[in-house]
Amino acid sequence: MMETVTREMRGAVALITVDNPPVNALSHSVRQGLKTQMEELAADDSVKAIVVACAGRTFIAGADIREFGQAPKEPGLIEVVNQIEAMEKPIVAAIHGTALGGGLEVALGCHYRVAVPTAKVGLPEVKLGILPGAGGTQRLPRIAGAKNALDAIVSGRHVSAKEALDWGVIDEIVDGDLVHAAIAFAEGAIEKGVRRTGEMTVDASEASPEMFAAFRKSIARQTRGYFAPERCIQCVEAAVKLPLAEGLKRERELFMECFTNPQAKALQHMFFAERQVSRIPGITKETPRREIGRVGILGAGTMGGGIAMNFVNAGIPVTILEVQQEALDRGLKVVRGNYERTASKGKLTMEQVEERMGLFTPTLSYDDLADCDLIIEAVFEKMEIKKEVFTKLDAVAKPGAILASNTSYLDIDEIAACTRRPADVLGLHFFSPANVMRLLEIVRAGKTALDVLATCVDLAKTIKKVGVVAGVCHGFIGNRMLSPYGREAALCVIEGARPEEVDAALYNFGMPMGPMTMSDMAGLDIGYFNRQGMGRENYETKAYDWMDTLVEAGRKGLKVGAGIYAYEPGDRTPKPDPEVMKIIEAASAKAGIERKSKTPEEIVERCMMALINEGAKILGEGIAYRASDIDVVYANGYGYPPYRGGPMHYADSLGLKNVYAKIVEYGEKFGPRWWKPAPLLKELAEAGKSFADYDRENAS
Ligand code: 3HC
Ligand code: NAI
Repeated sequence: MMETVTREMRGAVALITVDNPPVNALSHSVRQGLKTQMEELAADDSVKAIVVACAGRTFIAGADIREFGQAPKEPGLIEVVNQIEAMEKPIVAAIHGTALGGGLEVALGCHYRVAVPTAKVGLPEVKLGILPGAGGTQRLPRIAGAKNALDAIVSGRHVSAKEALDWGVIDEIVDGDLVHAAIAFAEGAIEKGVRRTGEMTVDASEASPEMFAAFRKSIARQTRGYFAPERCIQCVEAAVKLPLAEGLKRERELFMECFTNPQAKALQHMFFAERQVSRIPGITKETPRREIGRVGILGAGTMGGGIAMNFVNAGIPVTILEVQQEALDRGLKVVRGNYERTASKGKLTMEQVEERMGLFTPTLSYDDLADCDLIIEAVFEKMEIKKEVFTKLDAVAKPGAILASNTSYLDIDEIAACTRRPADVLGLHFFSPANVMRLLEIVRAGKTALDVLATCVDLAKTIKKVGVVAGVCHGFIGNRMLSPYGREAALCVIEGARPEEVDAALYNFGMPMGPMTMSDMAGLDIGYFNRQGMGRENYETKAYDWMDTLVEAGRKGLKVGAGIYAYEPGDRTPKPDPEVMKIIEAASAKAGIERKSKTPEEIVERCMMALINEGAKILGEGIAYRASDIDVVYANGYGYPPYRGGPMHYADSLGLKNVYAKIVEYGEKFGPRWWKPAPLLKELAEAGKSFADYDRENAS
C-alpha cells in the first residue's frame, strides 16, 4: 500500500504529513497511517508535541467519498479522531487550503489549530445528504458555540480562516511558512499541555430552545424537502444536552439515518456528476487552449448584461456592443444597479463596483471588437438577425477569435455556416439571470474545433459556472426537455386537473415552482408567438389552445397582472381565477374531453416520464455525453431537486424497467405520437441496466 502518512522529527516535535492526492481525503490508508503514527508517538518519549500537516494543495478535504459504497474498513474515522484527541502530547493541526468534513473533524480532534490566512474550514456533509459523522456535530458546538455550529453544519459553507479565528476554531493565523509556524506553535504548547475540544461544554446561554426554533424557521424555505438538515440540527441539540460519549452515539444514529436515505445517494451522484462534466472525449490536458484576455458581448439586454458581469467578476475586460446608445446606456445601468445592490448588502465595496464598471468598454461600432478573443452574441432570437451579426463579426474579429451564440434554440451549424471560420464557432447558452444561474450549456457544433471547445470548458470554471457540453438540436439539452414536460403539465389541466393542482404536485415533488406559475412568469405570449410560427400540425394543439385563448384575452401572464392565475397589483402571488377555469372547461368540452380529477402522483408521473423519455432520446442521439450531464443541466438550470439526483438518476431509482413499462402504457393510452419510448431506454430496460450503467460503460 502506498505510504500516505509519513513522519519526520523536528527537534522534540514530530511532524506528521498526510499525502494522499488530489485532496488528501481520509482513505483507508490515511486512517490507518494516522492511527499507527499516534500509537508509535505515544510510546516515544523523545516526542514532546506533534504537528499534523498535509502535502499538496490542501489540508484533508474530508472522508473519501468514493469509499462510501464499500464495506467499512477498520479503523473508522471516529476511532482515529478519538485516539488523536486522547493523546497526552499536544497536537497542532497545520491548515492550508480547505479542512472540510472529516478533515475538520481530525483538526478538531487535535488540541490546537493554526492556519494560513487563505485557509477555509467547513462541515459540508449536508451537501452530500449526510452529516458530520466523526464527532464534528459534537465538537464544533463545544468550541464555536451552538449558533455558529448550526450555521456551519446546516449550510455546509466554507468558513474563512478569519471567521474561524473569531469562533475559536483556529488559534492563530500565521503568515509565512505554515509548517515552520506550526512547529513553533507546538513547541510553545509543550508547556501548556493538551486542550481537548471534547472536554469543553457548550455555552448554554445562547443554546435555548427558542434559538433552535428560530433557526429552524429561518432555514425552512431553503431546506424544503431535504432530509439531512433537520438531523444536523438534532445533533447540535444533542451536543448541548449530552456528554460527549452520548452525543457521539446520537450523532452516529442520525448519521446512519441520513446515510441510508436515498437522498444521500442522489446528492453524492450530483457531486460526482458536476465534476464529470468537464471530461470531454478527445480533450486532454495537452489539447491546446486559446488565451481569453478580452471578451466582446453583442446586445446589452436581459442576457447580454448578465453574461458580461460573469467575465468582469473574473477580472476579464468586456467590450459590449449595442445598436443604439439608449439600449447601451440602459443595459449598463442595469449592470450598475446589480452591483450597487450587491454593495448595499455589504458584499462589495463601492470602490469594487467602480473597478468592475471600469472593465466595461461600451461601443456602437463593430470595429471595436477587433481585439476580442471571444465574442458572445446575445441579440434577438431570430435566425436572420443572428446571421447578419455573425457575417459582420466574421469581417472584424481577429483570426483565432472564438465566436459564440447565446441562442436558446437556433441551429448553431447554420449560424456557423455564414462565417468563413465555422471551426471557431459554438454556442454558449447561459441561463437567466445569467450573472446568477450556475449552468452554462456549451454547444458543440458540427465543425467546432477541439481547442475552441476545450477553451470554453475551462472558461466555464474561470467564471464559476458548471459548463455542460451539448450537441446541436432544437433547444439543446435543457430547453428540449422542458418542452414535453410543459406539454404534459398542460395536458393534465385540459384533462381535468386545475392549474394550481398541477403546480402544487410538482412543487411538492421538489421543483422550485410549478409549470403554470413558471409560464406566467416567463409570459404566455412567448409560447403563443412560438406556436404561431410552428403550424398547428407540429404541436399538441389541445394542450395549448386554452393558453392561446388566455393570451388573446390579454392575459399574458404576471407582467400584465393576469395569466393562468390572477395577481393583485404589486403582488406576485398567483391566485386561482374562476374566469380561467371557465376557459379551461370550455376548451376541454371543445376537445371532447370528459374532465376527470387527477391525483398529485399521476401528475408528477406524467411530467417526469416525459422528461425522462426526452432525456433518454438526447442521450441516445449523442446530444449529451452522459446521463449524469443531463442531471447537472436540470439541477442547475431548472431547479430540479438535487436530492432526487436529477431526472436520469430519478429514473434509475424508479428502475428503468418500470419507467419503460409506464411509457409503453402511456403510448397505448394517449397514443404513440408523444409517447414513443426512446430506443436507448428500451435497450437499457430490456438489458436490466440503468443510466448509471450506461455512463460507466461509455466512460472515456
Ligand atoms: N473524496 C473523494 N474524492 C474527492 C473528495 C472526497 N472527499 N473531494 C474531492 N475529491 C476528488 C474530486 O472528485 C476530484 O476528482 P477528479 O479529479 O477525479 O474529478 C478531485 O478530488 C478534485 O476535486 P475538485 O475538482 O472538486 O477540486 P477543487 O479544487 O475545485 O475543490 C474541494 C476541492 C473544495 C476539496 C472540493 O473537491 C470539495 O468540496 N470536496 C468535497 C469535500 C467534502 O464534501 N468533504 C466532506 C466529505 S464527507 C465526510 O467527511 C464525512 C465525515 O464526516 C465522516
Ligand atoms: P433582449 O431583447 O433582452 O436583448 C437583446 C438585445 O440585443 C437588445 O438590447 C437589442 O437592442 C440588442 N440587439 C438587437 N439586435 C442587435 C444587433 N444587431 N447588434 C447588437 N445588438 C442588438 O433579449 P434577451 O432575452 O437578452 O435574449 C438574447 C438572446 O439570448 C436570445 O437569443 C435569447 O434566445 C437568448 N436567451 C435568452 C434567455 C432569457 O431568459 N431571456 C435565456 C437564454 C438565452
